[in-house]
Amino acid sequence: MTAGRGNWGSRVGFVMAAAGSAVGLGNLWKFPYLTWENNGGAFVIVYLLAVLVIGLPLMMSEILVGRKTQLSPVPAFTSLGGKKWSALGWLGVTSGAIIQAYYIVIAGWSLRSFVQCLGWSLQGYIAPAESEFGEFLSNGPLQIGLAFLFTLFTASIVYRGIGGGIEKANKILMPALFAILMYLVLTALTMEGRSEALTKIFMPNLSTLKLRGFLEAVGQAFFSLSLGLGAMVTYGSYLDKKESIFKSALWVVVLDTLVALLACVAMFTIIFSVSGLGSRVSGSTIGMLFITLPDLFYTHMPGGVILGPLFFVLVAFAALSSTISLGEVTTSLVIDLIGWTRARATIVTTCVVFIGSILSALSLGANGLLSSFEFFEGKKGVLSTLDHLAANWMLPVGGFLITLFVGWKLGRRTCMDELGLLQSNPAFTAWLWIVRIVAPAAVLILLISVIMGKDFS
Ligand code: TRP
Repeated sequence: MTAGRGNWGSRVGFVMAAAGSAVGLGNLWKFPYLTWENNGGAFVIVYLLAVLVIGLPLMMSEILVGRKTQLSPVPAFTSLGGKKWSALGWLGVTSGAIIQAYYIVIAGWSLRSFVQCLGWSLQGYIAPAESEFGEFLSNGPLQIGLAFLFTLFTASIVYRGIGGGIEKANKILMPALFAILMYLVLTALTMEGRSEALTKIFMPNLSTLKLRGFLEAVGQAFFSLSLGLGAMVTYGSYLDKKESIFKSALWVVVLDTLVALLACVAMFTIIFSVSGLGSRVSGSTIGMLFITLPDLFYTHMPGGVILGPLFFVLVAFAALSSTISLGEVTTSLVIDLIGWTRARATIVTTCVVFIGSILSALSLGANGLLSSFEFFEGKKGVLSTLDHLAANWMLPVGGFLITLFVGWKLGRRTCMDELGLLQSNPAFTAWLWIVRIVAPAAVLILLISVIMGKDFS
């Protein structure tokens, strides 16, 4: 163990922190709205397949590299594979910084929803007008202010380091979020829209899924599981040698997927049950999380007056445990590479990333260059462009390279030792061939077909 880097207290500590990284806006905000835009069913199936076939093996691979080297991504790949492979670490850190930049803006919305709910709890609920969310989006100063607040929260925890801040907070907040979400789903399922919602989510209809939807499903699997940029390398570097990588990874994957599906079921049911909500959501699908749930809290749910504000506090915390893990990637790189103190590394990386947050925050309104340029078809403005670029291109490419690295470069022996499996174990053989062939081939074929299909979107 490198002195001064700290360590997780236990496997539960690791699972909670890694699940904290994985469970976030990806599950609560992005998965439901992508599922909606891609027409449910088939999208969800492709997503689940991607989680199982690519996500789980890749998560094991990332943790393995981290634990073997006890280093953050750039030095980890360099020490195992030589100088050339440091590029892979850099790609990851760049993706992490990009994601963090816009993610913090969305995370800021949870603060606003919290305040809004607090007001409704105290003064009674008034359903917002259809245009309300759009007006909020185009309020530049407010967007920057909320992003700034969230940046402060994130930096102040990363500043304190692993164990002290991250682990403790996650152990309490993750179970709380899960409990509220369960209650939300159970309440939603008493509403009449449930069968329509469940059909939309689980009934596959392949003809409605475009190639681009495949890319988004696979990209979302990477994004939601925090894969493809070395976040799990970083977290794995603090995992105790005694712990099983497979079991730890499996827990994280199952929890993450469950939360995404539960969130989706709750939101879709509400949309199909409350009249007028469908049109409010379709005006701004990106805001689905923040538009749908208050209606449930204040019109259908016993105790919703208390749970409404509380829920958005927990959303903020779920987002926070994710931004912390993103911040940890860039910060620990600077610490390992340049040898700065954690304090200095945190401050400098935070400032750099915040520039990206400002640009994203200003790109949500209706006018101006920041919000109107369209590099990827249908993705207008800085925030959507960064999201699409990082999640659907950079993470899959990063993941592709990581599987190749672990499968072919690292050597069977090292993998066996770290995974604690015998060569004769069929589970090991299956994992190895997935990492060597199946996962990289799946990603490669997808990326090539999207490029060749000129569906460069
Ligand atoms: N997984 C997080 C979410 O679903 C986002 C996230 C945190 C992330 N760390 C990451 C995504 C690292 C990719 C890589 O909200």
